[in-house]
Amino acid sequence: MIDNLKNRGQWATRMGFMLACAGSAIGLGNIWKFPYIAGMNGGGLFVLIYLFCIFAVGIPIMICEFAVGRSTQSSPVEAFRKLTSKNSFWQIVGWMGILSGFVILSYYSVVAGWAMHYVFLSVKNFNGATNPEVISGFFGALYSNGWVNLFWHAIFMLLTISVILGGVKKGIERAARWLMPILFGMMLLLLIRSSFMSGFSQAVSFVFSPDASKLTAAGVLEALGHSFFTLSLGMGAMLTYGSYLSHKTDLVKSSIIISIMDTAVALIACLILFPVLFTYGMSPEAGPGLVFKSMPMVFSQLPGGTIFAVIFFLLLTLAALTSAISLMEVVTSFFIDTLGWKRKTATLLPGFLIFLFGIPSALSGGALSKFTMLGGKNFFDAMDYLSSNWFLPLGGLCIALFVGYRMDLSLVKKEFKENSIFAKLFTPWFYCVRYLAPLAVAIVFLYKIGLLKF
Ligand code: PHE
Repeated sequence: MIDNLKNRGQWATRMGFMLACAGSAIGLGNIWKFPYIAGMNGGGLFVLIYLFCIFAVGIPIMICEFAVGRSTQSSPVEAFRKLTSKNSFWQIVGWMGILSGFVILSYYSVVAGWAMHYVFLSVKNFNGATNPEVISGFFGALYSNGWVNLFWHAIFMLLTISVILGGVKKGIERAARWLMPILFGMMLLLLIRSSFMSGFSQAVSFVFSPDASKLTAAGVLEALGHSFFTLSLGMGAMLTYGSYLSHKTDLVKSSIIISIMDTAVALIACLILFPVLFTYGMSPEAGPGLVFKSMPMVFSQLPGGTIFAVIFFLLLTLAALTSAISLMEVVTSFFIDTLGWKRKTATLLPGFLIFLFGIPSALSGGALSKFTMLGGKNFFDAMDYLSSNWFLPLGGLCIALFVGYRMDLSLVKKEFKENSIFAKLFTPWFYCVRYLAPLAVAIVFLYKIGLLKF
């Protein structure tokens, strides 16, 4: 093992660490995905189950990732080696994390590219179009245009790389300190705007009043699966951010605050999107196209819509950027810690490879639309499916099992209790880590891969 702790970064402030973690968690998962899956699952009750999953499974596993990262001050592969042995089986969890970071970032960057393209379409006011079909047609045109997708994919990867090149303090932390307050400000502005709409109260009751009739077993499992993706768990992103942390920080309190921020943003995103939909008599069940197809249409009919559309898609871009940074950092920190590379090489080379690997995703709606794998999925969908349904749940399960059964108990206790105002919660937390979380994740995992049916 190459011990180059000096080469590693550290967070300058606790606030910087919190904002970087919140930046990782808050992303396309909150603003693009959560509203449409909540919409498709009938709102209220789904939201309640999602909240339960965040608290009973997500937060406990986030604490595990922080504990492994901080106690070893290492990126995933080295972390598992340090806590076991050099040839230990557990290091596979670290390798899987790097693979996940690589795969997720390659297609995440393409979606972020769509958001950037929509910023420009919004500035141009969608060429003045107001007809729903014309507006939703913009998305189809973008999806099938390989060159435009490649262009934005390249720009977004360059942005991500340029932040990572700056290192932990001057890159990631500084970006989070600037971008996160802007993001919260933008959300607040959009929330205020939507709260004046006639559909606001209908939206509030849709999101907060439970309706059991629309919820299915698949919906419950989707809630749990999504709680992983949205909290950036199961691939070592939080583990890596935890490795730049000093022993002064309260891991439990931090995990709770980060998760609450992430959940608040997901709920606020619903309260921004749904009032507009209800006001204009549209269905919240529009599916994955909700943001890109419906939102511009709705904005086009709204007084001052152009400016709000620009803000909305900028928000989506910034949220995606702070998440992409954490995906990239997992890959970069591996090359720094394990191979002893300089940050510059450890960023540029894998960054370029991720860009190359993302090319088939960028072309999935165009030149490669006929190319299918994994039972009829195009490359883009296949990468999304592989990472969300296989890599993340499996990674989360392994991390919970590792901390619950393999890691030295006294070290686990020390990490949990150190400077924590929640030290008394150790036993219930450990119970979640050993039994509840692995069981819940195993069920989701088996269901998603089709081995378990309801
Ligand atoms: N949490 C991010 C989102 O909600 C996605 C992500 C997953 C980021 C895994 C890092 C690691 O969009």
